[in-house]
Amino acid sequence: MSVITAFVCVAGEATARAAGTTNQELIGAEGLTGVLAPGQLLRSWLVDEVRDLIEENGIEPLELPPPVSDELFELGEALFYDKILSGNMDVSCSTCHHPRLGTTDRLTMNRGVHGVGIGPERVGAAVGGRTTQPLWNLHKLQLGLTVDHKVPLNAEGYVTPLGGPFIPFEWQDDAFDPNMLVAAGQAMMPEVTDQEMLGFPGENEFTTECPQDNPPFGLVVCAWGKMMERLGEIPEYVDMFEAAYPGVDFADMHFAYAGNAIAAYEFRAFFSNDTPWDRFVGRIDPATGVVEADDDALTLAQLAGARRFLDSDLGNCTSCHAGNAFTDEDFHKTLQPQFGPGGTVPGGDGPGGLDDFGRMRISGDPADKYAWRTPPLRNVMLTGPWGRQSHYNDIKDFLRHYRFPVLALLGYDITESVDEVAMHSQFLENRQAIIAEGVDPLLYTVNIGGPLALDNLVSFLHALSDDNGADFSHLIPLRVPSGLPVDP
Ligand code: HEC
Ligand code: HEC
Repeated sequence: MSVITAFVCVAGEATARAAGTTNQELIGAEGLTGVLAPGQLLRSWLVDEVRDLIEENGIEPLELPPPVSDELFELGEALFYDKILSGNMDVSCSTCHHPRLGTTDRLTMNRGVHGVGIGPERVGAAVGGRTTQPLWNLHKLQLGLTVDHKVPLNAEGYVTPLGGPFIPFEWQDDAFDPNMLVAAGQAMMPEVTDQEMLGFPGENEFTTECPQDNPPFGLVVCAWGKMMERLGEIPEYVDMFEAAYPGVDFADMHFAYAGNAIAAYEFRAFFSNDTPWDRFVGRIDPATGVVEADDDALTLAQLAGARRFLDSDLGNCTSCHAGNAFTDEDFHKTLQPQFGPGGTVPGGDGPGGLDDFGRMRISGDPADKYAWRTPPLRNVMLTGPWGRQSHYNDIKDFLRHYRFPVLALLGYDITESVDEVAMHSQFLENRQAIIAEGVDPLLYTVNIGGPLALDNLVSFLHALSDDNGADFSHLIPLRVPSGLPVDP
């Protein structure tokens, strides 16, 4: 990049801002004269820059998810919204991953069993130690799921929750679609997690009649068996399972068939490529498969933000948020603080169990202490607060953390950054311990720039978000086969 173009860029941004014009107005002004106004010069220069950077970063149009049959999708849909899958019949997947709230719950910590209501209105629930993650474009997360890859794929291609053989491998061979392995395995775990869906000892047939062992190998297989008995008592489910898996009798099915169906639902329902960014890079039309790329899809600010995000000499965000899902599916020490009740599955770390050692919990490698998965950024503006524990209510505060991560951690004030007052007393003073584990060297290559550059980065993050907004309530079915109420 030459000095002159840098000047044009800064000057163009500054002029537009000083005059109080929007980017649209700036770009539109050219139409009046019929000649290239400065705004359009800047624009076409930025379009070229960003297209070069897209190529440099190897970013391709977002792939469509693998096709699934309508029958499998419909079974997965029913299961995703049906509270029958929870021990006390009080929680479904959608209770926490609610389509109306961008497939999450807008809470700092997730609220599971015993609760009533959705999202911030949910009361009376058992509180978990982590923030609910969104479910967009799961076909792009193939190596593992959750912020520490608690649900990983092992070298042989089997899903091993918490690194163990909890889901019998022969079940996986029977039921899992090879394109949806981790999501299928992950979909079997909340049902057997006490605080999320299972319930606590003595509360229901799973927690009274199944062995309460630890690690819970006996418990999970027993609970999944009873879950299939429950579903088998509902003729509509038996028909749906048999339609989804032609040639297999319900009597021969185990719970992995349910997990696989839920994954199929998630892949298709929560596929999202209707964003300005996709239309710029090239959007694959799900109906026709035709790819169309539109130079006009991004505003000037979004283009400037994209340039910073993608350029290794500027933001260098793509050194971690790589590819068209914006994640390297790897782990990094980015120095975000810890609060809440601690990692609850299978139990917390450190004194009182209030800490969460991150990736080390699963890998067992002390070098992974306080390292966390790079989250995918698609629809990120629909799923705040931001950070794995919902550390910041304001996206700009989250991004400012990248400027001086050590200082940001030391200066973090939970009362300013988190609205949920209940969390304020649950801040863990482990900051020196986090800093002592070191910071990812890549963070020193990140330059978020000044206030205007920060505005542009935020504009770019908006461009990664679906035009339809956070409300996907059109996905919610009116009823589920158990007849239990569906969270509206
Ligand atoms: C009580 C709230 C709650 C319920 C109920 C729940 N989840 Fe989650 N979900 C979470 C939380 C919290 C995380 C993040 C866990 C972590 O990172 O350790 C998560 C993570 C996930 C992920 C991983 C996303 C990613 O980016 O890695 C998937 C997929 C998922 N849940 C699917 C489901 C399905 C399917 C169900 C129903 C069978 C379900 N969840 C039920 C709270 C919930
Ligand atoms: C060294 C790797 C790395 C780099 C470089 C990096 N990130 Fe991140 N990013 C992460 C990790 C890891 C997290 C999750 C941290 C946590 O919450 O503990 C994250 C979280 C985020 C989030 C919050 C997402 C959510 O769903 O809450 C945003 C937004 C984000 N990054 C944007 C950026 C931008 C913009 C840049 C460049 C200026 C950038 N990141 C550079 C690794 C990185």
